[in-house]
Amino acid sequence: MPISPRVLVTGGAGFIGSSVVRHLLEDPQVEVLNFDALTYAANLQSLQSCEANPRYRFQRGNICNPEALREVFSSFRPSHVLHLAAESHVDRSLHGPQAFIETNVMGTGILLQEARDYFQNLPTAEQESFRFLHVSTDEVFGSLGAEGFFQPDTPYDPSSPYSASKAASDHLVRAWGRSFGLPVLVSNCSNNYGPCQFPEKLIPLMITNAFEGKKLPVYGKGENIRDWLYVEDHARALWTIARHGQVGKTYLIGGEEEHTNLDVVQTICSILDAIAPHPDISNRCDLIEFVTDRPGHDFRYAIDSSATREELGWKPAESFETGLKKTIRWYLDNPDWLESVRSGAYRQWMEENYAWR
Ligand code: NAD
Ligand code: DAU
Repeated sequence: MPISPRVLVTGGAGFIGSSVVRHLLEDPQVEVLNFDALTYAANLQSLQSCEANPRYRFQRGNICNPEALREVFSSFRPSHVLHLAAESHVDRSLHGPQAFIETNVMGTGILLQEARDYFQNLPTAEQESFRFLHVSTDEVFGSLGAEGFFQPDTPYDPSSPYSASKAASDHLVRAWGRSFGLPVLVSNCSNNYGPCQFPEKLIPLMITNAFEGKKLPVYGKGENIRDWLYVEDHARALWTIARHGQVGKTYLIGGEEEHTNLDVVQTICSILDAIAPHPDISNRCDLIEFVTDRPGHDFRYAIDSSATREELGWKPAESFETGLKKTIRWYLDNPDWLESVRSGAYRQWMEENYAWR
């Protein structure tokens, strides 16, 4: 491990990436380069607290552009790559899968090839400490029934174009490790929530809609189950894995907080009713509307992260109860952040693609 880690974060202007960047900069030894294409999902306001930090720099760029990546590798000379850049929303992948194949599959392949060229030309001491952590999802494993947990060796069985593209990228990463000796690690994490999440995902969508007294669209009967993890706990896990994980290994990360979607939405409603009563709606649960189910909707995700917890000593700091309260408070306190992501382009996409709601 070099004295001062130099961390290239791809997708650092997104939800989890910005939390990772903020977490890394808490260590005064760490320098960070955030490489992000600034798609609709990015928001540089999430990184306002980092802008003046001399150990932080931002480079706008696309992981599908090998020249831009080459320039970043040669000028920044990272000791670690944390690869988060991706198209991340399942519903969008149902409406337009191509972007998911381009960024998640092609982009990851291009990044791996550039990382490999860079790695092969490093001096031996720097090669020994170099790590490439690919940040992936539990959705690659497909759907669970009422029982059981995903394990590191659970066979891949992705359901959506999003999860299929992430599965493909996981395979590419492992292949670059086995075939070319790139020191790779893979993490597969459950559903994240917390500050700075784009309000197309369940929790921020429900918080913002409920606050404003809008309908709360729950897919199917709301019985699907997700395992929720507070984003800062994920960020901490990722940096722990990148520094202390074993090369070539897969680490599962989860919150051990399984909840049905209906429970999640009802809890958000009751917290908001208590801390920010609506002038005209006494019970925000009345806003819940059961809508057409998501095609190929995975029933349940649940992660067994005990191996990660035991090997690396990581565990979540937040329970779902504490994390959700913090998250709701953050959205109430940051209307400017919300307004900035509700751009014209975002609204237009929602109108075009969610008309069926
Ligand atoms: P996000 O959509 O909030 O952010 C993605 C970021 O990647 C954005 O800043 C975007 O501008 C950038 N990006 C997209 N395409 C790019 C490209 N071609 N080149 C460079 N940058 C590009 O996503 P997120 O929720 O923060 O997820 C980050 C990563 O974590 C993804 O790889 C996702 O698959 C994985 N993950 C997410 C969750 C979750 O619950 N959100 C859970 C497990 C794993
Ligand atoms: O499991 C990890 C994955 O979690 C990540 O890899 C993805 O990037 C992330 O988007 C998330 O995927 P999900 O599809 O589980 O998250 P989403 O917030 O879209 O939906 C959560 C659940 O809520 C899911 O069962 C669908 C349901 N849902 C979602 C929305 C947006 C609704 O019922 N209504 C909605 O409006």
